[in-house]
Amino acid sequence: MTLTVIPLQQTLQKGLDAAAILTGHALQMSLPQKTDLIAKIKDELQRQNAVIVAHYYTDADVQALAEATGGCVADSLEMARFGRDHPASTLVVAGVRFMGETAKILSPHKRVIMPSLEAECSLDLSCSPQAFAQFKADHPGYTSVVYANTSAAVKAQADWVVTSSIAVKVVKFLQSQGEKILWAPDRYLGDYIRQQTQVEMAIWSGACIVHEEFKAQGIRDLLKIYPDAGVLVHPESPASVIALADFVGSTSQLIKAAHDLDFLRFIVATDRGIFYKMQQACPGKIFLEAPTAGNGATCQSCAHCPWMALNQLENVMQTLRSPQLIELDSELIIQARKPLDRMLSFQG
Ligand code: 13P
Ligand code: SF4
Repeated sequence: MTLTVIPLQQTLQKGLDAAAILTGHALQMSLPQKTDLIAKIKDELQRQNAVIVAHYYTDADVQALAEATGGCVADSLEMARFGRDHPASTLVVAGVRFMGETAKILSPHKRVIMPSLEAECSLDLSCSPQAFAQFKADHPGYTSVVYANTSAAVKAQADWVVTSSIAVKVVKFLQSQGEKILWAPDRYLGDYIRQQTQVEMAIWSGACIVHEEFKAQGIRDLLKIYPDAGVLVHPESPASVIALADFVGSTSQLIKAAHDLDFLRFIVATDRGIFYKMQQACPGKIFLEAPTAGNGATCQSCAHCPWMALNQLENVMQTLRSPQLIELDSELIIQARKPLDRMLSFQG
């Protein structure tokens, strides 16, 4: 199987460049300018019957605005549910492209816009619909389970879609039905599911460019300085990092664990955008970024997804004025909806 490395590098560079420009602008904004911009966005949201559906990794200002305007800040599973169930006619999906596509698949009659249509995901990019079709053809008789971080065209070919919050439960269920399973595209999450369930799966070899960079040695070194710290890890991280975790889970599950576990200090191996919500959920606790540097480090993302960084107040305003629309073919929506509905109605 060959993976498309060059487009990934190109689009990563584009993401980094665009994020740097946007972040530069945001830093230049004065408080009165920001207040004015937020007021204008609020007016537009109301005028257009629109609601913001944001991921925890987006800019803190965007998360705060989503909360203040009746939108949601959530993990990818809750974003999908919220967008589907909310009565607004326009969903402003602040996240990455697969999240916008999921919202459109679940609410085809709604207008789905995004701050940037260039917000990709390295997992999605690693798994083209053509290569996935070949992967399936190479494994006849297998039940295909794909991560939510895939395009609509890959979902349309899958039996199941899962997010990290329910992947283990779904695979255990399929195991109980005697199914042979193929998994795409995150190899680390695939290894984690395999380790948790003891199910042998055929696993695609994609990775998240953010989580892949966390270093076990760096965490061990930090634990020497803060031996009382708990370790929270997203399962897109390498097995050596997961092995050090006090808790492994999706973004929402990590925030809940930060609140529930008895530690006052945490080392967190996921995108640092989550600190906004963690701090809000646990005001007295201290959160440290898990290290990405160390021997052999090639980090380009350093605990922050360059595509998530494309979600800033300015382009929320821009897309409300000049919509960056998610558009999908109606037949594709019908096909991709089936495995998504299976996930959403799964009672694990
Ligand atoms: P969650 O489903 O945990 O929000 O993860 C989405 C994601 O892209 C993590 O990198
Ligand atoms: Fe994709 Fe990783 Fe960014 Fe999540 S953090 S959207 S998995 S590249």
